[in-house]
Amino acid sequence: MKNSPIIVSAPGKVHLLGEHSVVYGKPAILAAVGLRVTVTVIPSAAEGVARNDGLDKIIEPIIKKHFKIKKIPSYQLSISSQIPIGSGLGSSAAVSAAYIAALLIFLKIQWDLNLVNNLAYEAEKVFHGNPSGGDNSTVVFGGLVWFRKETPDLKIIQPLPFTIPSKLSKNFLLINTGKPKEITAEIVGIVSSKVKNQKSKFEKLFIDQEKLVRELLPALSQSNEKELIRIIRKGEKNLEAMGVCSNYVKGIIRKIENAGGAAKICGAGGKTKATGVLLCYHQDKNKLESIAKSFNLPFFSAALGVAGLKTGWQI
Ligand code: MEV
Repeated sequence: MKNSPIIVSAPGKVHLLGEHSVVYGKPAILAAVGLRVTVTVIPSAAEGVARNDGLDKIIEPIIKKHFKIKKIPSYQLSISSQIPIGSGLGSSAAVSAAYIAALLIFLKIQWDLNLVNNLAYEAEKVFHGNPSGGDNSTVVFGGLVWFRKETPDLKIIQPLPFTIPSKLSKNFLLINTGKPKEITAEIVGIVSSKVKNQKSKFEKLFIDQEKLVRELLPALSQSNEKELIRIIRKGEKNLEAMGVCSNYVKGIIRKIENAGGAAKICGAGGKTKATGVLLCYHQDKNKLESIAKSFNLPFFSAALGVAGLKTGWQI
């Protein structure tokens, strides 16, 4: 048993609404999405960490600093992921959370989800500069999450007491527009300078996003499709007004809207062309699939509101 592999997985996330405004203290609703990253840590006699893409250089210092540890014994690391990287589905949060939990188990440190979440937030700061903490909280706790950053140190992470009713959940489709040219930190930075220069415009946008996020709660729990479509459309328009959606992707979204559906970016977005994955809704999912095909874009269905961090001890 001494060298048994330690296996931890975490899901991706989508913002049902509230991305960007969540960085400025407004609430967001996120869903853990049914695509997972699995991290395996195998204790090893050989020096070093095999196969890590430099991730150990980000994660190990966070653990060493927090627990005042000088050296982490050697291990092998393997990561397999179903989550497209850098596409708004929280891949960095998921891999950080799973890796952190696997290392804590490896180091025989007592842990719980709050601890992993706090440490994953530190990793998100390295990746994204000024993250809200919504992505890591959702991939760790799973389900549907109401998230609000009150202060840098105080966050409301409230699991929603319902799942998305199947009448609605069966009609979501994810369309992948590709990896944005700009990374999340860049887009968040661009919004931040706009917030400074166009204060009143952004205050209005953020207030409207909060209103829509609040209206989304009953729309989801009561299966109100008409409301859901209205809220996604309006929320997407506000994101576009923030300048985080390229003209190319606006074109795709308008096609979906004209066909009777709704679609939105579900992470930081992108300015040049690709904006990552789009969260799309239509009563007739075939319509969404034909639009994705007409743009030559991959699409897939994934469950929304899945379990968060999970551990397993055998391969
Ligand atoms: C990124 O997935 C979502 C943003 O709101 C940034 C954040 O919340 O940290 C754009």
